[in-house]
Amino acid sequence: MSHPIPVLVIGGGMIVYDQILPSLYHLQRCQQVGEITIVAASSTRLRDLAGKHFLDSFPGQSFRAVPSLESAPSDRDDNRWRECISQFTPHGLVVVATPDETHYDMVRCALEHDQHVLCVKPLVHNYQQAEELGRLAHERGLLIVIEYHKRFDRRALEARKQYRLGHFGSFACGQARMIESYYYRSSNFQNWFTADKTDAFTYVGCHYVDMVYFITGLRPVEVSCRGVDRAFPNGKIASMWTNGRVIFENGALLTVNGGNGYPDMGAGPNDQGITMYCEGDNCGAIIEHNDQFRGVGHGYVTPVGGTYFRHVNPDYFRLVPWQGDGLKPVGYGFDSIANAVDAATAIGRLGDGHSDSQARDLRQAALAHIDQQGLLATPRNSFINELVIEAARKSIVRRGLPFAISYDPPRVTPLDVSSDPAC
Ligand SMILES: NC(=O)c1ccc[n+]([C@@H]2O[C@H](COP(=O)([O-])OP(=O)(O)OC[C@H]3O[C@@H](n4cnc5c(N)ncnc54)[C@H](O)[C@@H]3O)[C@@H](O)[C@H]2O)c1
Repeated sequence: MSHPIPVLVIGGGMIVYDQILPSLYHLQRCQQVGEITIVAASSTRLRDLAGKHFLDSFPGQSFRAVPSLESAPSDRDDNRWRECISQFTPHGLVVVATPDETHYDMVRCALEHDQHVLCVKPLVHNYQQAEELGRLAHERGLLIVIEYHKRFDRRALEARKQYRLGHFGSFACGQARMIESYYYRSSNFQNWFTADKTDAFTYVGCHYVDMVYFITGLRPVEVSCRGVDRAFPNGKIASMWTNGRVIFENGALLTVNGGNGYPDMGAGPNDQGITMYCEGDNCGAIIEHNDQFRGVGHGYVTPVGGTYFRHVNPDYFRLVPWQGDGLKPVGYGFDSIANAVDAATAIGRLGDGHSDSQARDLRQAALAHIDQQGLLATPRNSFINELVIEAARKSIVRRGLPFAISYDPPRVTPLDVSSDPAC
C-alpha cells in the first residue's frame, strides 16, 4: 500500500496494552498503518507501552508519545487530546480508548476535524448521542466503528450465518455471563468504573446483548437490571455485579450476569459464555458458546499470569511466533482492529481524484453499505446497544424497574409509570 493510514490513539490503558497497540503495530509492519501517535493524560501508562513486552514482540517499532515519555508523571492534562486531533491529517484514524464518559466529546471532536473513528465499546450511554454522532459522521462522509470485537469471533459469525439461514428457528430464552477478574478492583477502574458513570452490565453485558442482536437481528424492547454495590479499595462505590434481563421483540428472554469478581487464581482471566435456546416448528434448537474454556488447558512449572494452570483463549488475542521478527497477533481481537483500519483506509481513498462533493457522495454510499452489512458495528447498525444501556442505567438506580424501548422514534420509557416513584 502506498499511503498507510496514520493513527492517533487516545488513552494508554489496559485495552490499548492488551489489544489495540499490538494490532496496530502488526498492521504497521504490513504497511497498512502509518505513524502511530498515542496521547494520554500523563506519561505514566505510556511508559508501559514503550517497555520490554512491546520491544520484544515488535522490534524496531515505536510510537510518538504525547506527552513525551520523559515528562513527569505528575504533568497531567486531560485536554491534550484536543490539540492532537486538531493537528492530525484529515482522513486519518482516531482510536478512542478512554473511559466511557469521555467518548462523546472525543468522537465528536474527531469528526469535526474530518477523522475516521474507531471507538472502544460502548460508544456512548444514550441513544440521542449515538444518533447525533452517527448523523454527523454520515454528513461528512466519515466512518465510526465501535469495537464490538465479539462480532469477529468465528463462532458468532457462524451462528449468524446459520441463524439467518433459518437453521435455529427462533430464539426463545437464554443466558449469558461475563465476569472479569477480582483484581480489576485494584486497577485504574477505581477512577472511572464508579456507580455514577457505569456498571458491570454496561461494561461487559453489552457484549452479549450486541451478540444476540448480531446473530438474530432481533431488537430489544424491554430491560431491567439490578446491581450489587461494592467499594473499591479507594472507597468509591461501583455496581460491581449486575443481573440484567433483556426482552426481545419476539418475546425472547436473555439473562445477562456481569461482574468484577472471577478468582484471580482461577483457570481463566475471566468467565464468559452464552447459551441461547431456540425453537423450530416442532423441535428445539440451541446455540451454546463456552467463551472461557475453548479447549486449551496449560499447566506450567512456573506461574504465568500469577497461576500454574490456565484455560488459554487462543481465539480472542494471542501473540504467536510467525515468519518475521518478534511475534504476531492472532484472533478476533486483531481481526476486529484490522477490519476497521481497512474500512477507514478504503473510505478515505474513495476521495482520491474527485471533487469534495463527489467524494462525499461516494463515501456516503460506501458507509451506507457498511451500515447495512452489519459486520462492523456503526452507530446506525448498533444503536440498540445505546438504547439497552440507557434503559439498564435507569433501571439500576430504580432497583430493577423495567424500562421499555420503542423504535418509532427510538426511545426509552419506564414500563409502568404509576409504580415509578421517580416519575
Ligand atoms: N471491548 C472490550 O472488551 C473492552 C475491554 C476493556 C476496555 N474496554 C473499554 O475501553 C475503555 C478504557 O478501558 P481500559 O480498560 O483501557 O481502562 P484503563 O483505566 O486501563 O485506561 C484508561 C486510559 O484512558 C486514559 N485517559 C483517561 N482520560 C483521558 C483523557 N482525558 N485524555 C487522555 N487519556 C485519558 C487514562 O490515562 C488511561 O490510560 C472503556 O471505555 C472500556 O469500556 C473495552
